[in-house]
Amino acid sequence: MSEGSAEAQGDVLVTPDGSRTALNARFGEAYGSRHGAASQARHVFVEGTGTHEHPAPRVLEVGFGVGVNARATLTRCAARGVPLAYHAFEFDPAPRELLRDVARGGEAEDHPAWRALLDAWPESGGGSGEIEVTVGGATLRVTFADVLTADLPGGWATALYLDGFSPGRNPDVWTPAFTARLAHTLAPGGVLGTYSAAGHVRRSLEAAGLRVDRRPGAPGKRECLRAVREG
Ligand SMILES: C[S@@+](CC[C@H](N)C(=O)[O-])C[C@H]1O[C@@H](n2cnc3c(N)ncnc32)[C@H](O)[C@@H]1O
Repeated sequence: MSEGSAEAQGDVLVTPDGSRTALNARFGEAYGSRHGAASQARHVFVEGTGTHEHPAPRVLEVGFGVGVNARATLTRCAARGVPLAYHAFEFDPAPRELLRDVARGGEAEDHPAWRALLDAWPESGGGSGEIEVTVGGATLRVTFADVLTADLPGGWATALYLDGFSPGRNPDVWTPAFTARLAHTLAPGGVLGTYSAAGHVRRSLEAAGLRVDRRPGAPGKRECLRAVREG
């Protein structure tokens, strides 16, 4: 993620669209775009995968992070009155207070499913296992595990958010082998969205049998990708 004009407030970064994200010390990278965390979530992930129009989205996410994508998705589904099933993987859960701070004043801060998720979230972060809440028309499930070795649902996802830090910092989630596993999690017609437009990412997605389209990027990025499982 390139440097942007985000303003640091303790561990939280306030980005130009007013939304918040945070810095991840382990990878030395911000969880979301410094050019607009909520803008990226909406453009690349929610709209890029067609989740904003789907009658009953089932979203699989690689990298729950601080939940910006999850809240952007909750907001759009709640506004349309459609049910949402959201299953994210996260191997290094942040402390609960950081998730709360990042969400302060932002989308879905008061959604009952977000509040229930925070109540269930490990207070100091870390840990293993899984939490799941169902309330207000949404089911949010976060599996605290390495997605590279986790069992992934087959043919389930209407949308896949591939958001596991940049290929340069975290190459493992962008390999052709893992991309092929991700392609199998998509239901027919399902769409993978990612902010990366790197050539090797595009080629991996194509090698996995997906139809890849380039789209204009979110603020600060020229392009991003969507990849469709046809059929
Ligand atoms: C760019 S951040 C995701 C931001 C998040 N989607 C949000 O809306 O705040 C990447 C996340 O992926 C997680 N991650 C990276 N590699 C992973 C892996 N192999 N398994 C599970 N989680 C992983 C990191 O710990 C980090 O929280």
